[in-house]
This record gives sequence, C-alpha cells and structure tokens, in this order.
Amino acid sequence: MAEEESGQFNNAPRGGHGREKDGGTGHVPVLLEPAIEFLAVQRGGTYIDATLGLGGHSYEIAKRLGAQGRLIGFDKDTNALERARKRLSEPPSELKADWPGITLLHGSFADIGERVPAGSADGLLADLGISSMQLEDAARGFSFQAEGPLDMRMNPMSELTADQVVNRMSERELADVIYEFGEERRSRRIARAIVRARPIRTTAHLAQVISAAARSMKHERIHPATRTFQGIRIFVNRELDDLRALLSSAPGVLREGGRLVMISFHSLEDRIVKDAMRDGAQKGIYTLLTKKPVTASEDEIDRNPRSRSAKLRAAERG
Ligand SMILES: C[S@@+](CC[C@H](N)C(=O)[O-])C[C@H]1O[C@@H](n2cnc3c(N)ncnc32)[C@H](O)[C@@H]1O
Repeated sequence: MAEEESGQFNNAPRGGHGREKDGGTGHVPVLLEPAIEFLAVQRGGTYIDATLGLGGHSYEIAKRLGAQGRLIGFDKDTNALERARKRLSEPPSELKADWPGITLLHGSFADIGERVPAGSADGLLADLGISSMQLEDAARGFSFQAEGPLDMRMNPMSELTADQVVNRMSERELADVIYEFGEERRSRRIARAIVRARPIRTTAHLAQVISAAARSMKHERIHPATRTFQGIRIFVNRELDDLRALLSSAPGVLREGGRLVMISFHSLEDRIVKDAMRDGAQKGIYTLLTKKPVTASEDEIDRNPRSRSAKLRAAERG
C-alpha cells in the first residue's frame, strides 16, 4: 500500500506554501538542499530541470551555473512555464552578469531523449507530481477541497480530462484505475457509487460521492477521496508512463559523471525510480548515491507539511 516508509499518501502539491522567505514567490521547493547537493552543480555545466513548476529548484541551480552555464527546463503546463520564465528572468542583482543561458520547453519530460542532445547534461532533476499552483487553482480541477470542473490535466492542451474518466469509463475500468493508480482497496465500491451518481461535473460532487461510498477508516488520517483523486490524476496525465520514459532516456542525455536526482511523492513513483536506478547500477550505467531515499527533516516538515512524503534518490552516470 501507499503508506510505506516515510508516511502518508496524499494529494499534496510539491512546491510548498507561502509563509517562508522565498524571494517573494510564495513558493518553497521541497528537499532543495539535498537536491542541489546531489546534483553537484558545476559552474559552466548544463543542467536539466524536467519539472520546472514555479522554477524554485531551477532558480537555485541557475544561481550556481555562471554565464557559461546552461539550464534547460521542461513543463507540460503552459501556465507553469510562464511562471517559471518570469521567475528565472529576475536574477539576483549581484548575479545579473553571471546568469546562465536558459531554455524553457513546453512538453513532457518523456520526450527528453528527442529534445536534448545525447550526452550533453551534467545533471537532471525531476520533482514529480503537481505544484501548489496547480492544486490551489480550483479551475484546474485537481483538488477535492475546492469546487472546480473535473479537469486534472497538467497539460491544458492534452485531450483526456477527468470528466471523461469519471463520466464515460465503464465501472470496471474505473475501478481498475482507482485501484492501480490510487492504490485504493475500496475501488469497486467507489466505482459503483460514481457510476450510479453520473453525471458528475465537479470536484466537490465527486469528493462527496466518494466520501459517502467509502468513509474514512478509523486509522486513516487522509480524506476518503485522496486516493481516488490521485488515481484519476495519474491516469489522466499518464504520469507513470512518462516517468518510465524519462528514466529510460536519462542515461542517454547524461554525460559520464552526470547526476540524476529524482524526487517522488508516493510509492508507485518511488518504486519505479528505485527499480530503474538499481537496474542501471547492476548494468554499470549508474553508481547509486543514495542507498535509502533521502526524506525531509522534521524542521522542513514543520515549515512545509507537504514535504512529509517526499523521497529523493540520486545516481551518477558511469
Ligand atoms: C512538483 S512541481 C515542480 C516544482 C518545482 N520543482 C519548483 O521548485 O517549483 C511538478 C511540475 O512538473 C510538471 N510535470 C509533471 N509531469 C510532467 C511531465 N511528464 N513532463 C513535464 N512536466 C511535468 C507539472 O506540470 C508541475 O508543474
């Protein structure tokens, strides 16, 4: 089940909340220090941020690159790309003349092998999942705590929406999505309730149908709709397929000694990352830099509760 090792399975966004000092963006990147440390950012190097989000990790990488360095960023979400572009176009005044070349690309990191020259990267970071900006925008339909349309697309240009999954899939297929990608044991009961309640047009209605079908179990600290929402979101965005594609392309884009740093937030993602790195290590492609995943300190969790389920794994290209 999902609540393995470091705790709670959740629908929480990465990228934090807005209370800390963060250069005015209201955004706190998760596991920032270990991510930068494991990337071992070198002046003049080329680094890929596969998940720009609000540009929090990218900004810290850019600060260390110097004018000869290069940062390549990806995001599926055009809104995120614009936010990151703005953030990255405002270097600290003392670094204005020492700011790297920056290329921001719209699209999935699954295509990294076709969009980044082979053997060109000194480091690749992926901070998986959705950002606080995406979760908190009710109109994007990611949150069961707000009234919004059933959308859940990270890429607003992609075709499949949560509405189609919720209202058009057969009960059996829906149960499979909820079970496989949400790791929800009550998937059949929930799928049946959803099919009976159709049409369901909003996140709040969906959350209410799920809650009525599967009340929280006593030991559970999470909302009853958490796993179902996560399952639908992963399916809508093909998140696990994209992750596998990224991991299969990563050795090709990294140069010898290049670092791969992956931050995941639930057991499905972490298992895929762990297996790919172990497999790479067995084949001599990688040296593992983390035997166990790095997790957030108590202090970081206190400051940013959403970091509690984050796991960082890193490897070096041989
Ligand atoms: C957790 S946020 C990243 C936060 C970022 N590290 C920061 O500090 O601001 C994840 C971002 O990755 C993007 N994303 C998720 N899967 C993606 C994929 N397959 N390809 C490209 N971008 C993706 C999401 O749209 C989201 O903006």
